[in-house]
Amino acid sequence: MDVTKYYDKIYSFKDYEQEAGKIAQIIEQRLCSEGRHLLDIACGTGRHVEYLKDQFEVEGLDISQEMLTIARRRNPNVPFHQDNMTDFDLGRTFNVITCLFSAIGYAKTLELASKAIACMGRHIIRGGLLIVEPWFTPRAWHPGTAHALLIDEPNLKIARVSTSLMKGRVSYFDLHHLIGTPEGTTHFVEHHELGLFEIEEMKQMFADAGLSVTYDPRGIANRGLYVGKKTK
Ligand SMILES: C[S@@+](CC[C@H](N)C(=O)[O-])C[C@H]1O[C@@H](n2cnc3c(N)ncnc32)[C@H](O)[C@@H]1O
Repeated sequence: MDVTKYYDKIYSFKDYEQEAGKIAQIIEQRLCSEGRHLLDIACGTGRHVEYLKDQFEVEGLDISQEMLTIARRRNPNVPFHQDNMTDFDLGRTFNVITCLFSAIGYAKTLELASKAIACMGRHIIRGGLLIVEPWFTPRAWHPGTAHALLIDEPNLKIARVSTSLMKGRVSYFDLHHLIGTPEGTTHFVEHHELGLFEIEEMKQMFADAGLSVTYDPRGIANRGLYVGKKTK
């Protein structure tokens, strides 16, 4: 079973419209290049794209075909690319690249995250921006803690329970979903592994990619935010 179709229900607590508004504000304040081309990397179901597409010429990229199917349905006129953020070549540049909701963590290792940031950097025009919302730092991740989320609608019940774990510099957890619908109740487990990177390590990745960077510990959703500007 694929829980992708429940992704938007599970993350219905997120205010994508407000987050996209904050991203747009940062772009207006910091962008130093002509044009409005924006690429959202690891765009998921296209929720940020939905609120950015009126102000920018937006494209999306994600590794998951299932996520992209939903993103395309939501944003029928937006081009989407199925590709890997650590190694893609769209053959063109953008004024802004975003990578939000901690998706950079899925690169898993420092080496692959650096590759991803470098790859994103190569797709940005001089004076353009790379905006990355990070996953946890090693110190902020608390292994051995249990978490639960409940969706309680008349015809849909989802109980999602997990325990946060850590091996070396990788956080991992199994998301156990109990999904109840009028047709019956099913159980599905989704395994996740995300790399834990230090702030200084992230900043170094930006510098290595030719981007000057600032870090805001709050960002758009209290997860922190790196804003890099391509200087050359
Ligand atoms: C937590 S979701 C975030 C989705 C979206 N940005 C949002 O805010 O809802 C992480 C996304 O990263 C995508 N992803 C994971 N590894 C990836 C990779 N190597 N390249 C591109 N996308 C990846 C997943 O398919 C998923 O859509």
